[in-house]
Amino acid sequence: MTEHRIAILPGDGTGREVAQEAVRLLETISEHSKHGFELTQIDCGGQHFKEVGVEWAEGSFDFCKNDADAIFLGAIGHPGSYLPNGDLAGGSVILGLRSGLDLYANVRPIKLYEGVPHKVHGKFRQIWAPDMVNMSILRENTEGLYYSLLKRASHRAQGLEEYEVPEIEFPDLKGEVAYDPRPISSFGTERLVKMGFEMAEIRNGAPADGVKRVSCIDKSNVTRGCQLFRKTFDQVAKSYPDTEIDYGYIDAFTQWLTRTPEHYDVVVTSNLFGDISTDLASVLQGGMGMAASGNIGDDHAFFEPVHGSSPKYAGQNKVNPIASINSIQMMMDWLGRKENNEDLIHVGKIIDESVAEHLKNNSKLTYDLGGIASCSDVGEAICDLVRGRLIEF
Ligand code: IPM
Ligand code: MN
Repeated sequence: MTEHRIAILPGDGTGREVAQEAVRLLETISEHSKHGFELTQIDCGGQHFKEVGVEWAEGSFDFCKNDADAIFLGAIGHPGSYLPNGDLAGGSVILGLRSGLDLYANVRPIKLYEGVPHKVHGKFRQIWAPDMVNMSILRENTEGLYYSLLKRASHRAQGLEEYEVPEIEFPDLKGEVAYDPRPISSFGTERLVKMGFEMAEIRNGAPADGVKRVSCIDKSNVTRGCQLFRKTFDQVAKSYPDTEIDYGYIDAFTQWLTRTPEHYDVVVTSNLFGDISTDLASVLQGGMGMAASGNIGDDHAFFEPVHGSSPKYAGQNKVNPIASINSIQMMMDWLGRKENNEDLIHVGKIIDESVAEHLKNNSKLTYDLGGIASCSDVGEAICDLVRGRLIEF
């Protein structure tokens, strides 16, 4: 029995409900495979800040860094909960971990499962076959427009002195001026782009033509940072001559993404562009309830559904847990590859197959997919399928 130490950070709103389904899945795997998980829950977030006065208990960042093999985060964000300096309360958790643990790639797979209606035309009209949407968007996660916010959050999380944004003067601007620098480095870009090419090697290529393709999405027609991003992309690409490369400006990409998603295999982009385009892309996979992610570095990683805390639905056992279940799928795959453990990689595949089977049968779906099942109904049903497969395996 191998033991993995997993930190569970439920966070805010519906994050707390979906975290329970992530836990249910980890416990199912523990019970029916040779992989054990030692779970440690850490209360955190904006609501926690409002109630207790801290974003998480002291030592939590260090625990995540030194005592966890992987981390699951539910969601961060509570209405009206901001720190005295104006930053999002709970930022120490989500942004502090991204920056403080150097999790430079935010990997967001966009895959439309059979039986799931995407949400582009009308309410539940299907215009693409499921096998036409299967890409992974890699969002740079430590630099770009988030840089100063990330630095403030990680300094706070690590108990370092407050990070101050370097002063820039804009003498011709009138009235109050606020700005966020957007630094992009060749180092930060290179490691992200490399991960993109490595990922393309183990994927099956773009749905349209099976071609392994990495697309560089930027705005290099206007910004210096993006020019460096693209230049670095081109340099990295030289080491992967068998993979097709492709470019797009972020504005045009939003059209192509929705018009011809089957063209895309792996997409690399900068921080804010990745934030925006992955919310858009979630529409192609049936909505945010289906959008999983991994914040991945060389030594650490945390996995979270992209949907956020959705306060409107909090406490109702209503939201779709599949984004969280698939985030655990990504966790298993990441741990397996890190440890060269084929068996654990296979557990990830079992989760994927179980989710696919569940969705294909279309029986228990949450409201966002047109059903009436609860969050825990869906979590239980998928765990039953996972259990069956684990026992057979
Ligand atoms: C995301 C979220 C976060 C972000 C927020 C909660 C800080 O929108 O993970 O995409 O902007 O990165
Ligand atoms: Mn976002």
